[in-house]
Amino acid sequence: MPKGGRPAPLRSTPADPPVTHASLALSAALREVSAEIDRRFDLLLPVPSDPREDLYRAMRHAAIGGGKRLRPLLVFATARLFGVDHDPMGRVATAIECIHVYSLVHDDLPAMDDDDLRRGKPTVHKAYGEAAAILAGDCLHALAFEILAHEETHPDPFVRAELIGELARASGAGGMAGGQMMDLVAEHKSFDLPTVTRLQAMKTGALIACAVEAGAILGRLAPEGRTGLRGYAHDLGLAFQIADDILDATGDEEKAGKRLRKDGAAGKETFLTLLGLDRAREQARMLVDQAVEHLRGYGAEADLLRDIARFVLERDR
Ligand code: IPE
Ligand code: IPE
Ligand code: MG
Ligand code: MG
Ligand code: MG
Repeated sequence: MPKGGRPAPLRSTPADPPVTHASLALSAALREVSAEIDRRFDLLLPVPSDPREDLYRAMRHAAIGGGKRLRPLLVFATARLFGVDHDPMGRVATAIECIHVYSLVHDDLPAMDDDDLRRGKPTVHKAYGEAAAILAGDCLHALAFEILAHEETHPDPFVRAELIGELARASGAGGMAGGQMMDLVAEHKSFDLPTVTRLQAMKTGALIACAVEAGAILGRLAPEGRTGLRGYAHDLGLAFQIADDILDATGDEEKAGKRLRKDGAAGKETFLTLLGLDRAREQARMLVDQAVEHLRGYGAEADLLRDIARFVLERDR
């Protein structure tokens, strides 16, 4: 694809079943959550008839359709352990997906990964220009906190404040954005395994961990009761990013809906460059086993969380 060209969408049906090997229950849950998140973004982002029109179109382009909606599903799967009402779960899941989507819009910009395809569609800056893409990311970031601060998210302001604090920490310099900076530095500096592990835990793990933590917060689980869930989320987050790096090296662009073979071309230090493909796969498998082991205190009610962990290894998108 020539730079500046407008790539043709690879996927014409973003509502395709998102997984091939996962359990039926997980497939159904992913489909349900995807439909709900699409619906919520549709209601949140009506296009105004004023000069901001393209800003809203850019946000809708980024947020609606496509994507595995893994972080929203983690909020639902965790909060359901504690019998949380549906609407607060949906609101919190949407807020966390807002941050994830914004991070993808900015990650794809020319100043970062310079990508032209995301979720089977042109990236936001290809479709709407760089300025609109930057602002759409900014607005999705703000929208996340607007949703959490609203009293419909939870009647107790302490719960809302805890959710806001967790998401802010997971998004900022100590979490996703800080990890993204380290990731860019990894293109021209060699890092050792502990540093790459920290990078991955920040850029990807923090938001995944936040999704699980948010489910526990909504469930009013005391922090001292969250150890197992935190261990699960930490290991899942690392396994998820190793799987993303493996996908980058070995996956199929059409299925993934994004450009692949980017990390190697950029000379980026990842688990793959440090461990090689086989050991990276082994490491991801071990992390998933460990993640599942952290749930030993839960019964069948946590099976969806277990299925999600296994799905992370099997995924092709
Ligand atoms: C891609 O995340 C970026 C990473 C953090 C690795 P996902 O693989 O969850 O992307 P979507 O949401 O399914 O598009
Ligand atoms: C992006 O990591 C992580 C975030 C957006 C926080 P990557 O750059 O590896 O994600 P992809 O491969 O473009 O989806
Ligand atoms: Mg990147
Ligand atoms: Mg990228
Ligand atoms: Mg990647």
